[in-house]
Amino acid sequence: MSLTDPRRVLEVKRDGGRLGPDELRAFILGYARGEIPDYQASAFLMAAFVNGLDDAETLALTRAMVDSGRTIPLEGVTRPKVDKHSTGGVADGVTLLFAPLAASLGLAVAKLSGRGLGHTGGTLDKLEAIPGFRTDLEPDAFERQVEQIGCAVAAQTADVVPADGALYALRDVTATVPSIPLIAASVMSKKLAVGTDLILLDVKAGSGAFMKTPEDATALAKACAKLATDWGHRTRCAVTDMSQPLGDAIGNALDIQEAVALLRGEMHGRLRDAAVMFAGEALSRLTGVAMGDGRARAARAIDSGDALESFRTMIDAQGGEAAVVDEPEAVLPRAPVITLILAERDGHLTTVDAEALGRASADLGAGRKRKGDPIDPAVGIVFRPKIGDRVESGQPLGSVHARSEEDAETCLIRIAAAITIGEDPVDAPPLVFGWYGD
Ligand code: URA
Repeated sequence: MSLTDPRRVLEVKRDGGRLGPDELRAFILGYARGEIPDYQASAFLMAAFVNGLDDAETLALTRAMVDSGRTIPLEGVTRPKVDKHSTGGVADGVTLLFAPLAASLGLAVAKLSGRGLGHTGGTLDKLEAIPGFRTDLEPDAFERQVEQIGCAVAAQTADVVPADGALYALRDVTATVPSIPLIAASVMSKKLAVGTDLILLDVKAGSGAFMKTPEDATALAKACAKLATDWGHRTRCAVTDMSQPLGDAIGNALDIQEAVALLRGEMHGRLRDAAVMFAGEALSRLTGVAMGDGRARAARAIDSGDALESFRTMIDAQGGEAAVVDEPEAVLPRAPVITLILAERDGHLTTVDAEALGRASADLGAGRKRKGDPIDPAVGIVFRPKIGDRVESGQPLGSVHARSEEDAETCLIRIAAAITIGEDPVDAPPLVFGWYGD
């Protein structure tokens, strides 16, 4: 259907009415083809933001967005296929662990990823800190690699869900990003364009996340789960804690170093727990093993070194220096200035402004302000304590990795302002607030 007059769509949404799937589809596809101008699409977004979209409209919007570009059916992949996606956080290296871990358990992880933006990191940037690692895989090579070794992480190209790229840029400049149906359609369209058997969505909640409270994150998780059910795609959505950095490393090479240490069994903690939880969930949903068994098998795959070997194989397949899993410090770029972060007083770590730490790391050069900006893979922050931990005055809490002494000093001041150390003990926040979907 082609749209004769886009104003009819705008009138319906302006007046709080419901759009039929055909007119919504024609409007979105018309916009993606360049036939509907930005000013009318902006008016639609604002009306949708103010008056909302119901489940049927959200589904129709998502379908139109997926149909605006090419899809990746992955028909040649015979293993059970899973995609895991996070809504974005700080020190959120779960995908780095999950992809090789799930592959070592016999699953296939076909992951199209994005780059870091603002205070949140991006898996592609982290992997590209490994010398030689390529993320610009052609669709055929991507699919072959997934079939052969069980995992591939590649950049999403502009021809997959192009309507989302255009609409997201417009939402950014028209203050219409924080709308649950618009976010759900945006996130899920990119997942539903890839032919997997299961989508695992990690909706982050807290100071380092897009959604600052578990309640808002739960509303988004429920909307994404409902959308997936209406589409007919198996999806599980977890709401997880982002009231502090998930792992310790906030950077790029630093995150790879941490992932290697975790896969070598040299480190434990919330990042490993999250990866084991998602891999256990995937194994259980896709193969029918009991949830407890799925998690136990995932933990064993790390302890046995199988997941590390899968990581080595994936790095090698994508042109990276695979020796990084043996000697990360020798292979990864290193910042010229490394300064310890010292606790200023005795007490318990009470709060962490994870977004402020993410921004401090980005300003060292680890992140970007605008899409397309270059990043410095070597710099960043390692911040080890978690909320509830007891710390002593003068105790090293981690390190700042910077290009200059001046950058390191500024960053230390920002870190001190981003954390509170209180006298009274506090409980560690839960890792997971809830699971949604079926
Ligand atoms: N991430 C997305 O991909 N889309 C949104 O709208 C928000 C976060």
